[in-house]
Amino acid sequence: MNELLLERIFDKVENIPPFPETAQKALTILRKEEVDFRELERVVKSDPGIAANFLRLVNSPAFMLPQKVDSLFKAFMYLGVNQIKFILLASVAGVYFNKDLKGYGISAQDIWIHSLACGVLGEILGNLLNLSYEKIESLYIGCLLHDIGKIVLNLYTTIEKEKFQEVIKKEPTWDFNQVEWLVLGVDHGLVGGYLFKKWGFPEEISTAIRAHHDPDLMLQSRLSALVALSNILANMIGFEGGVDCFYYKVPENLIDYLGLDFKDWTEPLREAYKKVFYLHRSLF
Ligand SMILES: [Fe+2]
Ligand SMILES: [Fe+2]
Repeated sequence: MNELLLERIFDKVENIPPFPETAQKALTILRKEEVDFRELERVVKSDPGIAANFLRLVNSPAFMLPQKVDSLFKAFMYLGVNQIKFILLASVAGVYFNKDLKGYGISAQDIWIHSLACGVLGEILGNLLNLSYEKIESLYIGCLLHDIGKIVLNLYTTIEKEKFQEVIKKEPTWDFNQVEWLVLGVDHGLVGGYLFKKWGFPEEISTAIRAHHDPDLMLQSRLSALVALSNILANMIGFEGGVDCFYYKVPENLIDYLGLDFKDWTEPLREAYKKVFYLHRSLF
């Protein structure tokens, strides 16, 4: 492991823009019993990037609004609090995933769509498990931003491409995060978790992001297991998160740990696919 490289990676972490204050403020408003939509509109509007993404997303047929809306306030009137939170956090993800990640072989569009797919699946699984409002919010954050560490590591996976290929050839049974550890001394889950810890998010969220490729750690909490499973399913239904997604094993006991007993996976997966398909079509 190259210590200088690791130092550079953590220097780069410092350059990642902080989690938007606008989103923090909006979430605080949305956690209140009585939500003031005018105040919420004022707050969301203060960040043009998030506001623009919000309007792009909300007008997708995925959210089934009865008519197109051109104002945030109108959009809020049609949506439930959970949906507003989802679209808000999906908009934040769009702000972060705005560049191609060459080191992971994925475009800006596709990594955003992968994150949205993970969020949609997380929501479906969370509802099946009757999660509370609070837990659903944590699940949205974890799912929609689970790959944020890739933004930091992208430069180094690009520079070290040959080394990555060498290790993958030599150790074909390794998961990709093991390869990241060997070449870079860190993996994108850990970097993402570190970012969320630094931003002051609850430990449960930073751990879920940290754990999404760690077969042991993902079984330490329901949130971690749900984020990990949503990511796996997003890849399975065709919204892959990068070339690395073909290099992970699925822990056998993940479904059992969650107590999910899908006699038929078809319906939830079809529902998710349809929603993400609409999102993809309306966004790009
Ligand atoms: Fe990942
Ligand atoms: Fe992913």
